Amino acid sequence: MSPAVVIDKWFKDIIVDPLSKENLIWNSKTAPHSSYGRRYFCDTNRGIYDFKVLLSSSTPDQKRWQEGQVAYEALSLDIAKHDGIVDYKAEIDGMRPVYEAIPIVGRCLDIGGHQGRLRHFLAPDQEYASCDPFVGVFDDLESQPKLLEAYPFLREPVNFVCCNAEFLPFASETFDVAHMRSVMDHFLNPELSLHESYRVLRKSGYLVVGLHIEGGLSGSLSLWRRLRVLARKGLGALGLTKFIDHHVWHPSYEGLTTLIKLCGFEVVTEYWQDKEVLYLKAVKVVSE
Ligand SMILES: C[S@@+](CC[C@H](N)C(=O)[O-])C[C@H]1O[C@@H](n2cnc3c(N)ncnc32)[C@H](O)[C@@H]1O
Repeated sequence: MSPAVVIDKWFKDIIVDPLSKENLIWNSKTAPHSSYGRRYFCDTNRGIYDFKVLLSSSTPDQKRWQEGQVAYEALSLDIAKHDGIVDYKAEIDGMRPVYEAIPIVGRCLDIGGHQGRLRHFLAPDQEYASCDPFVGVFDDLESQPKLLEAYPFLREPVNFVCCNAEFLPFASETFDVAHMRSVMDHFLNPELSLHESYRVLRKSGYLVVGLHIEGGLSGSLSLWRRLRVLARKGLGALGLTKFIDHHVWHPSYEGLTTLIKLCGFEVVTEYWQDKEVLYLKAVKVVSE
C-alpha cells in the first residue's frame, strides 16, 4: 500500500461492488471481485484500489468527460511542478469562513476529493475518506515542500479509493456528510452523483456542494464575461487546447438548486464565497 493511502477497517467494511452494491470478495490482495464475476484492480505500485466503471469514450459525452479528466490530471501534475508559486495559505484562508458557516460533522465522504485537503477543516479523529478517479493524485508529493508545509497531514495516509461519483462503491446509509467541492461540473452525470450521494448518506446525513455558479445569484452574465466565454470558445475551436472548456456543466443557481431538490435534498444553508461561488448544505429528506 502506498504510504499516502490506507484502508481502515471501518472503510473496508463498507466497500461494495459499485454496480450491484453487494459485498465484494477480497480473497486476493490485488483483485477484489464480485459474486457475479466482475473483477476490480489494485494499482500495485501505488497500492490504490480502483473501482472505476466509466472507462470508455464511446459516446460524445463520455469522450468529453474522458478528455476533460485527462486534461485535469495533466494540469494537476503541472501545478505540482510549480509548488513554490501556488499560495496554499491563501487557499486555506479563503476556505475557512466556508467551513465555519457549514461545518463538516461526522463521517465524511469527499467525492472527487483529490488528495483530501479537506482534512484541514476536520477534527483530528474524524472518520474521512476521499474517492476520486485520479489514480496518480498522490504522485510526487515529496517534491512539493510548500504543499506539505501548508497541508502537513498529506504525509499521513488517507482512506482513498478510485471510483466514479456516479457509481459509488459504498454501502447505503454509511456516511454523515457527502462533500462535493468544485466537482459537480467535472462529473459525467451530476444527477446520478446526487442520487448516489443520497443513497450513501445516513437518514440524518447532509450534502455539501461548492460550485461556481454561472452569473451568481442573479444569473446575469456581464458583457465582459460573455465576451470571455466567446473568446475561449473561439480559441479552443482553433485548436489552442489550453482554452478548451472541459467542464460538463455551468449550472445557474436555479439549475443547481432545482437538481439538488429533485434528488431528495432540502437546501438549508447557503454561503456565497464571492459573488459567483456558492457553497450549500442540503439535508437528506426521507419520506416515511
Ligand atoms: C477541481 S478538482 C476538485 C478537487 C477537490 N474536491 C478540491 O476541492 O480540492 C475536480 C476533481 O473531480 C474529480 N472527478 C472528475 N470526474 C469525476 C467523477 N466522475 N467522479 C468523481 N470524481 C471526479 C477529478 O479527478 C478532480 O480530482
